[in-house]
Amino acid sequence: MNKNELYKKSLNEIHSVWDDDIHITGNLANICAILKTNFGFWWVGFYQKRQSELQLGAFQGPVACTRIPRGKGVCGKAWNERKTIIVPNVHEFEGHIACNSESNAEIVVPIMLVDNEVWGVLDIDSRDFDCFDIVDKQYLEEIASFISEKIILEIPY
Ligand code: SME
Repeated sequence: MNKNELYKKSLNEIHSVWDDDIHITGNLANICAILKTNFGFWWVGFYQKRQSELQLGAFQGPVACTRIPRGKGVCGKAWNERKTIIVPNVHEFEGHIACNSESNAEIVVPIMLVDNEVWGVLDIDSRDFDCFDIVDKQYLEEIASFISEKIILEIPY
């Protein structure tokens, strides 16, 4: 399957396994599992905004840093700028936070709320240099906007 087909398959799986009646963490963990399994990414996870930092949420992959201050690293920059950031080579990104030495490329997609506030970010790391492009951006933003709609509907657990 090519990248487009893999993302379409992943989107179908995400839509079909999402369960409105459980805590969001379980649903986000399933999204990590789907993306990691289908693409073989090195690390897939979510950081959620709490006060002035991003805190580690559901993820699949090696142990990761638990807190990222606003504006720091790729995740903090995506939060600040409210836009997707693609990093072809993390070793050349000033301020990159290295959670694991195996990671070489990264994409971070903000998850926005209705008021244009950032809820958190979806962060994906790869061991392959320069492996994220406009196709990843397009589909991962579609996944982020699906999550945004679900967050708005979420009933406090
Ligand atoms: N590299 C990220 C930190 C999180 S890890 O990749 C899991 C960053 O620079 O924000």
